[in-house]
Amino acid sequence: MGRMDGKVVLVTGGARGLGANDCYEFAKEGADTIIIADIRKENMEETAAALRTEFGCTIVCRELDVTNEKQWELLVSEIDKMFGKLDVLVNNAGIVKRVTLLECTLEDWNNVIEVNQTGVFLGMKHCALLMKKSRNASIINISSIAGLTGYFAWPYTASKWAVRGMTQAAAMELSDWGIRVNSIHPGFTWTDLTSDVKDMLEGFSNAVALERYGKPEEIAKAVLFLASDESSFITGTELTVDGGLQAGGGLRYFTKQMGLYQTDH
Ligand SMILES: NC(=O)c1ccc[n+]([C@@H]2O[C@H](COP(=O)([O-])OP(=O)(O)OC[C@H]3O[C@@H](n4cnc5c(N)ncnc54)[C@H](O)[C@@H]3O)[C@@H](O)[C@H]2O)c1
Repeated sequence: MGRMDGKVVLVTGGARGLGANDCYEFAKEGADTIIIADIRKENMEETAAALRTEFGCTIVCRELDVTNEKQWELLVSEIDKMFGKLDVLVNNAGIVKRVTLLECTLEDWNNVIEVNQTGVFLGMKHCALLMKKSRNASIINISSIAGLTGYFAWPYTASKWAVRGMTQAAAMELSDWGIRVNSIHPGFTWTDLTSDVKDMLEGFSNAVALERYGKPEEIAKAVLFLASDESSFITGTELTVDGGLQAGGGLRYFTKQMGLYQTDH
């Protein structure tokens, strides 16, 4: 028995990175069907082919720009026709622009907000009615630790705080339909999104209690938990998966530097 047996799952931005790792965990745990929706056709097909070979499960790839409402409508109606239900939606697609308040152009702002915030809004809005049919469904919105703290990347931080708020509001609205809605807040994790800032990731690792950045599969395990029935009494919550950054990792670093922790017991 797998933890995802019988479930139909949709992962946006599932072509690579954290989303592809979510798909891997879902396939490993016996999901009935995994729909990968992304703008990167090639990466999507590669990810799907690898999963089919390893697990023999049904993987459907669909090109979707999460900012495009028409495409959402078409995709959801196709899923309804093909499978008659949707049990899990992972709103994972996201982009980052590392610009501060004073650097941020209106174009930067609109781009990031459109993908990271509007994309999550459209995903929840258009999938909710179909997910109602499941009576036991789960939406997981990928926010960030930037949705919990003041982070320098201005439009990214704004979008990820919005995802956190939208998650709680949707959890209240959709609970009568048996749809749970939670957000995940990954800390710095090694993917294509962060591969251009390796030095930054290594520097920030000082402020992480576990003193390293995360691996994509470590985030995916948390997504799996919230997608599975093991989290049946969890809705409207924020699951931080950051190695102890947000809990006070920065203070821990300075405390250690000052020799205030006794480590030689
Ligand atoms: N990597 C990290 O350190 C980290 C930390 C916190 C949060 N996150 C969040 O996790 C999510 C996944 O990030 P990742 O690190 O895997 O990044 P990634 O760049 O490796 O993957 C993101 C995926 O989203 C897709 N995507 C981008 N714009 C899209 C659009 N308009 N429509 C559909 N798909 C689109 C991309 O094609 C890509 O496949 C993002 O929401 C990101 O903000 C990542």
